[in-house]
Amino acid sequence: MSKADKKLVIFSDIDVEKALKNALQKPRPDLISEVRESGLKGRGGAGFPTAVKWNLAASAQGDRKFVICNADEGEPGTFKDRVLLTDYAEQLVAGMVLAGYAVGAKEGIIYLRAEYTYLRKNLEATLEKMRGRKLLGKKISGKDFEFDIHIHMGSGAYICGEETALIESLEGHRGEPRNRPPFPVTVGYLGCPTSVNNVETFITALHIVEKGAKWFKTYGTEKSTGTKLFSVSGDCDKPGVYELPMGITIKKLLETVGGEDAKAVQVGGASGTCVPRKDFDRAIAYEDVSTGGSIIVFGPFRDMLEVAINFMEFFCDESCGQCTPCRLGTETLLEGLDMLDEGKCSLKYLRELCSLGETMQVASKCGLGQSAPNAFLSIVENFKSEILDSRCTCR
Ligand SMILES: Cc1cc2nc3c(=O)[nH]c(=O)nc-3n(C[C@H](O)[C@H](O)[C@H](O)COP(=O)(O)O)c2cc1C
Ligand code: SF4
Repeated sequence: MSKADKKLVIFSDIDVEKALKNALQKPRPDLISEVRESGLKGRGGAGFPTAVKWNLAASAQGDRKFVICNADEGEPGTFKDRVLLTDYAEQLVAGMVLAGYAVGAKEGIIYLRAEYTYLRKNLEATLEKMRGRKLLGKKISGKDFEFDIHIHMGSGAYICGEETALIESLEGHRGEPRNRPPFPVTVGYLGCPTSVNNVETFITALHIVEKGAKWFKTYGTEKSTGTKLFSVSGDCDKPGVYELPMGITIKKLLETVGGEDAKAVQVGGASGTCVPRKDFDRAIAYEDVSTGGSIIVFGPFRDMLEVAINFMEFFCDESCGQCTPCRLGTETLLEGLDMLDEGKCSLKYLRELCSLGETMQVASKCGLGQSAPNAFLSIVENFKSEILDSRCTCR
């Protein structure tokens, strides 16, 4: 997979040692203020403001606090964190140290996707090297501040990317989401205040603190500042990882990756939205169509019902089964899609399935069940005649 290494923010040059030393000279509140001023929102998908999360963890009561890097990268079509973990590991470690300093944590954990076990050796070597350079461990950069990181391997379940299921998994339990509140920033890993952030979020924060919020805001839109890494796959000439400004239109992105003839683009992976060609002027941004990075291009000959079936099979496999709307809803939607495939689904039943999908969006316990119907609903809405005409017997 190629990496389109256009140097904007995340892929731009940075002296990690200098950046970390500079950051640790600043008072903690100033550091969080700079991140707040930048408008950075979490790059893991949910788009929660990073400074708000860090501030809540910093002000939470507790002698022991944790910073966790969510490197589970389980969303179908996302592979940008793999590039960062492979080629930008020093920046990730520095970003985590910076976060630890900001929230008052001494301990960091990288929760690494099971399929990325092959990256562990290099990551361990990076940690060791940074300890040797006094950028990790005790008395970092000669300051009275200590912070160290260890790696914990994930076990291959998509739900363990959800931050509370991740924490359950870290504690040795079955990876199932917790009830919230309390949120991890107050009661997280081992009951201690914990900030869970995506790989890209830590690295972006390092660049912001070193180069300034103002510089960061020269990219993106007012509500979606900066740039974003996109993992582009599917029916295009140049799949790969791209750094592009937030707010870019789908049309422009397709021109960049050689996917101009696409009939639809799935923005946000299996849990995201399927955008049809007529809406390619929409912007990829938190205020329009948002994504943790996954962009899947569907060319003119793709069967959109097959696409919907594929995504729903994924959710049936990955639902943790804890709550009824998600456990039964995903199965029922998949059965409905199979009926459609066999030309046996009436329009009336299809409407009922859409209504079930809408119920799942509000009644499911966590983001998995809440987003599982998204692809189904957007594909049915935008490709109804294609789906019905190609399989129709009578209805
Ligand atoms: C089912 C599910 C899977 C998720 N998988 C990931 C993941 O692999 N990586 C990630 O960073 N966030 C994932 N998230 C989002 C996390 O719960 C959390 O919002 C994120 O780690 C916060 O980091 P950020 O604020 O830096 O984005 C997932 C959420 C859900 C509901
Ligand atoms: S929504 Fe799905 S994944 Fe989330 S708790 Fe309920 S059953 Fe588990």
